[in-house]
Amino acid sequence: KILILDFGSQVTQLIARRVREAHVYCEVHPCDVGSDWVREFAADGHLKGVILSGSHASVYEVEDRAPDAVFELGVPVLGICYGMQTMAMQLGGKVEGSHSREFGYAEVRAHGHTELLKDIQDFATPEGHGMLKVWMSHGDKVTELPPGFKVMASTPSCAIAGMADEARRFYAVQFHPEVTHTPQGAALLARYVLEICGARADWVMGHYVDEAVARIRAEVGDEEEVLLGLSGGVDSSVAAALIHRAIGDRLTCVFVDHGLLRLNEGDMVMDMIAGKLHARVIRVDASDLFLGQLAGVQDPEAKRKIIGGLFVDVFKAEAEKLKAAGGGHRGVTFLAQGTIYPDVIESGGAKSKKAVTIKSHHNVGGLPEQLGLKLLEPLRDLFKDEVRELGLALGLPREMVYRHPFPGPGLGVRILGEAKREYADLLRRADAIFTEELRNTVDPATGKSWYELTSQAFTVFLPVKSVGVMGDGRTYDYVVALRAVQTTDFMTADWAELPYALLKRVSGRIINEVRGINRVTYDVSSKPPATIEWE
Ligand code: XMP
Repeated sequence: KILILDFGSQVTQLIARRVREAHVYCEVHPCDVGSDWVREFAADGHLKGVILSGSHASVYEVEDRAPDAVFELGVPVLGICYGMQTMAMQLGGKVEGSHSREFGYAEVRAHGHTELLKDIQDFATPEGHGMLKVWMSHGDKVTELPPGFKVMASTPSCAIAGMADEARRFYAVQFHPEVTHTPQGAALLARYVLEICGARADWVMGHYVDEAVARIRAEVGDEEEVLLGLSGGVDSSVAAALIHRAIGDRLTCVFVDHGLLRLNEGDMVMDMIAGKLHARVIRVDASDLFLGQLAGVQDPEAKRKIIGGLFVDVFKAEAEKLKAAGGGHRGVTFLAQGTIYPDVIESGGAKSKKAVTIKSHHNVGGLPEQLGLKLLEPLRDLFKDEVRELGLALGLPREMVYRHPFPGPGLGVRILGEAKREYADLLRRADAIFTEELRNTVDPATGKSWYELTSQAFTVFLPVKSVGVMGDGRTYDYVVALRAVQTTDFMTADWAELPYALLKRVSGRIINEVRGINRVTYDVSSKPPATIEWE
């Protein structure tokens, strides 16, 4: 196993992710665990190496240092950015402080004589020096090597951008190998954990399930019960499957149908979670309540607020009922959420000792406090693709695990203006046709369906009428827009260049099969300046 000590960088979990990608087991712990804890952690003989993360702070702003035991265990240590500086300071080198801190692209000359960087390079200079393209934190820098170290990497502005003491197998880099902007970073980290540390590459998602199950059991104990808000999305479904695996019937899921879900969504979720997993799910049909409150409301923000507020009310009422009931147990004491790592970063609460109480940005944010429940977030260290892999390992169907994301307010933000039941019914049917055609149309070049080739695709209802002709008659009906985007992070997105034949089939089917819609358009706006959703 590899120990990652977290000094509070926003990207510490990325280090863990890269180590997991090399199929090596690792654990992230706060940097101030102390030397006794580290020795205890290593006592089983399985600790193969340590990684010291970066930090948002400067070594001169904070006192965080690695526990001394880290350097006394006889295992390799890799310092990254702040981790390099603290290593340099602790082992007798010098670090020069700086108030300004820049994060950016740099080209680093890699001194290929070290075990860590040998043959790892992006390109070579005319003189034959190996060069790495990296994402670098400028700011504090090591100005004097600790005894026993040599320079492993350098740039014109940073003479010691990497250092190594190969006798003790201590390595450090000023740049960030864990981010994708450092193309060779994954290779460097894999080299470190597999070859330098000699860790075994035997970690797979199946093991993650066992570990996560053990962690949940330890956290929840033998008597307490957990409540989970199930949205039908990937994250909450995978969280439900995982928690159910850990504590069985002591998990109760609440699925609120606000009347703004996709076609057959409710049945699909019930079939999968209640039917296949045999988890307890309470399905609350609150469509009258939601659509009633939305009557006459046009403004997108007002609609979002109403939907969010009602969701909390409904969920809270169910939770109170369950809390009061208690059964033979102690009653519900935990609220589980499918928060994943990008959510944690987005809400500014990256896991570190600096952020002990972390609020979730999810649709039920703030709920645990209001309900007096403890928060259980078993997916908070994982990235989306890892959550999907975990879902498969737990036996969820591939089709479910690889679904496009669906916003909490649902069709509420895909019906422009007032969200009427009549509109929602039309939109659901049009959207189901679009999705079906995307799933059934395979791109010959890649062998993938257009559903897989797009990140998110859906239909938007425009409450305007246009004239058409059908058979011999004139029609005066509604318009829908098709939206399909490709993106990796949903922060920016391009509209997808769907084949004309596919668009033609979709539009033909929608206009013929959904009475009330006589015109279909395709949205060719990128984000930015447009957003993915229309409201
Ligand atoms: P935009 O429209 O901002 O969407 O480009 C980016 C991504 O976020 C999703 N989205 C939401 N998800 N609750 C959610 O759970 C929301 O209120 C919400 N609004 C937008 C959207 O579907 C897209 O994937």
